[in-house]
Amino acid sequence: MSADIKLEKFQESLSTKRFGKCVFFSREVDSTSDWAKKLAKMGAEEGTVTATQTQTAGRGRLGREWISPRGGLWFSIVLRPDQEASEAAKLVFVASLAVAEVLHEKYGLRTETKWPNDVLVSGKKICGILAEMSTIEEKVNYVILGVGVNANFCPDDVFPKSVRIKATSIENELGKKIRLESFLRVLLEKMEMIYDSYLEAGFAYLLEEWKKYARFLGHRVVVRDREERLNGLALDVDIEGALVLKLEQGITRRILVGDIAFGKLQRTRLGI
Ligand code: BTN
Repeated sequence: MSADIKLEKFQESLSTKRFGKCVFFSREVDSTSDWAKKLAKMGAEEGTVTATQTQTAGRGRLGREWISPRGGLWFSIVLRPDQEASEAAKLVFVASLAVAEVLHEKYGLRTETKWPNDVLVSGKKICGILAEMSTIEEKVNYVILGVGVNANFCPDDVFPKSVRIKATSIENELGKKIRLESFLRVLLEKMEMIYDSYLEAGFAYLLEEWKKYARFLGHRVVVRDREERLNGLALDVDIEGALVLKLEQGITRRILVGDIAFGKLQRTRLGI
């Protein structure tokens, strides 16, 4: 995002009703999600966006660091769905489907969604999503969806080896930079459309659309959570958003929290 983002112009060209109608932009911040959280606590409306050029303390899932150099799209959005807290995990599917669709439709990239909330291109991570929630008596008070897209930089230039072997970027895939403001605008429009249709029509349709990009389904995967490492066949993602895994011993397990890892050999398609 150029340092002199024209907020007024950006908002005028947005065709959303709520998403991005209130945008805060900074050149550098610790984490856009922490920033959005502070605003949400002060009563920020649904759709409020915080965006930055770089984060000094970007956070990923499961307590990981999220390296956020200049050239990436780093933003968070405040959501206030009228929902039970138990439903909120499904919101990450809204963001990952939106990113997968926009990168495909606007830039022609062959995107895939990886459970629970990554978007990949060429088998490597291009986007990560972090959902954090505040509740009041079992109901959602607010959810902060933090979205990080590796855009206008090359992973080899900025990430340590352990990260760059698993990461790609829009610039890496297209061989050129994109206009971040235009990407953010189209992404917010897509997110609002998917979010509204999810709240109105339920999770089933969103999930079906998300699965069209879920190329890991039907493949052998390794699932890691904090305590375990499970090998199995990714059978499905069910209506609760859980990964359905057929373990080697033939037992089927539903997994609600974890991370899929797979190597090239493990992606060989198997008959279910
Ligand atoms: C993950 O894949 O582990 C999730 C990464 C989420 C990163 C984004 S960047 C914008 C927002 N601010 C943060 O500190 N994290 C999220």
